[in-house]
Amino acid sequence: MSAAIANRCSQLQPTAVNAILAEVRRLQGEGAAPVSLMRGEPDFRTPPHIAEAAAAALRDGRTAYPDNRGEPKLRRAVAEKLARDNGLRFDSGAEILITSGATFGIYAALAAMVNDGDEVLVPDPIYDAYLSPIRLAGGLPRPVRATLADGRFRLDPGAVEAACTPASKVLLLNTPWNPTGTVLRESELREIGAVIERRGLLLISDEIYEAITYEPSRHVSPASLSETLRARAILVNSLSKTYAMTGWRVGYCAGPKELIAAMFLVLQQSSRGPSTFVQDAAAAALTGPQDCVMEMRAEYARRRARVIESLKGLPGVRALEPEGGFFAMVDVRSLGLPSDEVRRRLLHDSGVVVVHGAAYGPGGEGALRVSFAAGGENLERGLARLRAGLERIAG
Ligand SMILES: Cc1ncc(COP(=O)(O)O)c(C=O)c1O
Repeated sequence: MSAAIANRCSQLQPTAVNAILAEVRRLQGEGAAPVSLMRGEPDFRTPPHIAEAAAAALRDGRTAYPDNRGEPKLRRAVAEKLARDNGLRFDSGAEILITSGATFGIYAALAAMVNDGDEVLVPDPIYDAYLSPIRLAGGLPRPVRATLADGRFRLDPGAVEAACTPASKVLLLNTPWNPTGTVLRESELREIGAVIERRGLLLISDEIYEAITYEPSRHVSPASLSETLRARAILVNSLSKTYAMTGWRVGYCAGPKELIAAMFLVLQQSSRGPSTFVQDAAAAALTGPQDCVMEMRAEYARRRARVIESLKGLPGVRALEPEGGFFAMVDVRSLGLPSDEVRRRLLHDSGVVVVHGAAYGPGGEGALRVSFAAGGENLERGLARLRAGLERIAG
C-alpha cells in the first residue's frame, strides 16, 4: 500500500499534540484519566453576539457559496480592524483574503512563495505544524536557533542572518510566539526587518495570538514598521484564539496584491473559503464590541499568574513568565533528563499531559510547554499533578 502514497505526503508528520493525544487515548482506554495542560484551545464559549450573528445569517439563507476571496463585508471588516489595531492600511478589494483559519493562510502563503528547494527560515523552537506545509510546498525548513537568557527566548537577528543561504527565500515568524511565550519587541522586529530587507527575504507573519499579551508587552505587526517590510510580508491571522472560535475555521491574510492574487488561486483550487454564514459571524466579531476579548485576556492573565505561582520553589524547575499567548515554558534542564522523558513520566506516573519542548525543535529541549488555555478546575488539578510529578522526578 505504501507504494501508492505520493512522495510529498511521506514527508508530512502528525503534529506533536496529535501524537501525544494518541498516547493519551491509549491510556484512557486502559482506564486512566489524565488531566490535560496541553492544548491550544480556549475553554471559553464563542461570545453570544457572534453566535447569534451566525444564526441570523442562517435564518436569512446565507448558505450559498461564498465569494472565494471572502465576503466583501468581512474583507472590509478585516481592513478596518487592521487599520484600527495594527496601524496598517490594506485595500479590501485586492489585498485581503479570507481563509479557513490561520492554518490555510499559512499554507496558501507558502504555496504562493516557495519554489522547490527554497529554504524557509523558522525560529527554533516553533509551532511544529509549520514544518509539514513547508515541505508540502516543496520548501526546506531552515531552523534559526533561539537563545534562552534571563527567562526569555530571543530570536537574535544575527542568527537569522547567519542562517541565510542563497536558497533562503522566506522567514516565518510567530509573535506572540508559540511555544516560547515571547512577544517580539519593536526594536527586535526592526532589526529582524533589516535582515529581511538586506537578504531580500519574504516574510510570513503569523499573528494569531496578538490579542493575548500581558502588560507591558504589546503586539507589533512587523508589516507596520516600514513600507519595504509591508511590501514583502503576508500577515496571517485568525479568529480562533481572539474570539474563542477555533471550531469555526475562519481567518484572514493581508499583503501585497500580487501575493494575495497567487494565494487566492491556491484557495480557489482547494478550500474555497469558510462558509458564508461563518463569514458573517466573523464580520460581527471584528466590528462588534471588543469587551469579550478584554475579558478573556484578563482571565488568561489570572491563569498565567496561577501557573507561575504554583510552580515556584520546585527544585530544578523554573517556570518562564510568558509575555503573550496561553502557554508557559517550564525550564527543566536542571533535572538532567530529555524533555520527552520528563513529559512521559509526568503522563504515566502523575497523570498530567504537557508537551515536551523538543517537539518544537532542538531549541526547545530542556523545557516543557504548559497550556493555560483551559482554566478552572482543570487547571488547578493539572497544576497540582504537575507540581507533584516534577517533585517526584527531581527527588
Ligand atoms: C502559532 C499558531 N498558528 C496557527 C494555529 C492554527 O490556527 P487556526 O485555528 O486559525 O487554523 C495555531 C493553533 O494552535 C497556532 O498555535
